[in-house]
Amino acid sequence: MPLLAPTAAQAGEIEVLHWWTSGGEAKAAQALKASLQAKGHQWKDFAVAGGGGDAAMTVLKSRVVSGNAPAAAQIKGPSLQDWAREGVLAPVDDVAKAEQWDALLPKAVSDIMKYKGSYIAVPVNVHRVNWLWANTEVLKKAGAKLPGTWDEFFTAAEALKKAGVVPLAHGGQPWQDFTTFEAVALGVGGAEFYRKALVQLDPAALKGPTMDKVLATFKRLKPYTDKNAAGRDWNLATAMVIKGEAGMQIMGDWAKGEFVAAGKQPGKDFACAPAPDTAKAFTFNVDSFAMFKLKNEAGVKAQKDLASAILSPAFQETFSLNKGSIPVRLNLPMDKFDACARQSSADFVATAKAGTLVPSIAHGMAVPAAAEGAIKDVVSQFWNTDAMTPAQAMDRLVAAAKAR
Ligand code: GAL
Repeated sequence: MPLLAPTAAQAGEIEVLHWWTSGGEAKAAQALKASLQAKGHQWKDFAVAGGGGDAAMTVLKSRVVSGNAPAAAQIKGPSLQDWAREGVLAPVDDVAKAEQWDALLPKAVSDIMKYKGSYIAVPVNVHRVNWLWANTEVLKKAGAKLPGTWDEFFTAAEALKKAGVVPLAHGGQPWQDFTTFEAVALGVGGAEFYRKALVQLDPAALKGPTMDKVLATFKRLKPYTDKNAAGRDWNLATAMVIKGEAGMQIMGDWAKGEFVAAGKQPGKDFACAPAPDTAKAFTFNVDSFAMFKLKNEAGVKAQKDLASAILSPAFQETFSLNKGSIPVRLNLPMDKFDACARQSSADFVATAKAGTLVPSIAHGMAVPAAAEGAIKDVVSQFWNTDAMTPAQAMDRLVAAAKAR
């Protein structure tokens, strides 16, 4: 070890922006910090609370505009291209070449990390977004079955309601409404429809009979959420399921990080299932870090060491075990992972082959940020406005998709 440790002159401090503040997230962030410190550098924490990262991205913009960018920031999907175009990111190609990232990463992922052929970000993990989480004991007591289809979901929700628990734990924040919406779109419409409507933003798919059905199904979920849902953080919604106050939650697998941090076991205390009618598809959400251009050499060295640490097999495992995700690096052993993660890993590969692996629009993976934000707003307006019809929502979706 002493041979590998950097000399004092090379030890740098880097400020890292992220939004990992919930129980499971914080444990995962701690692992990242530890891996940087193990290389002799210092981590300056720049955590901006707020699930989904909307608040963090607003803060990032103002910091960069005022000429005070952090050394590294959690930035994902097509937004990486926007930042690269601004000329503020530092490529990490030398690390990528030396460590052969092209061979270690799925192509669907490395493509997102590159701008004009150059690696501008390092991927951390793969989250599956289309999951449903349930409290096994609560389901059992209510005589409800873990749903595999939307029909079964509504049957289970009715049973849970009769048993006096909140059927669906939800946090009424736009990104959570959107996360639920994309799961419904994938389940009701299928992967082909999802891609046309929510990746290609095809007006005919955004306004048509399938979207009409998606919106109607989405709205049917609302009566199964509770009155206090508005504004609730996602991890508090997960806590309702953990404590047995609610039966189910539709959320990406960072929710599993919360169950695990609370000492709960999958298959015993809680169950995971692909969101209804989406077993053969996968909405992916890859967390990644981009490095901003720095002038001091020690900082640059620390950035490179962080990039390298993130893809090391040991870190890949520890991080995802805490975060609820799966490693992004290919061919790593999955024996320490639970059944939910192993299913995610197998389905990631199978859906990539089948053409049903799709980027999550709610988590910044599918479309440019402006269109994503505008569509997200329409979805929340529809969710929150009883009088709005699917037809009205569809007209707004078509208009929102044109936002630049
Ligand atoms: C996602 C992010 C995840 C997760 C979640 C909730 O967008 O990719 O890492 O933490 O937000 O904060």
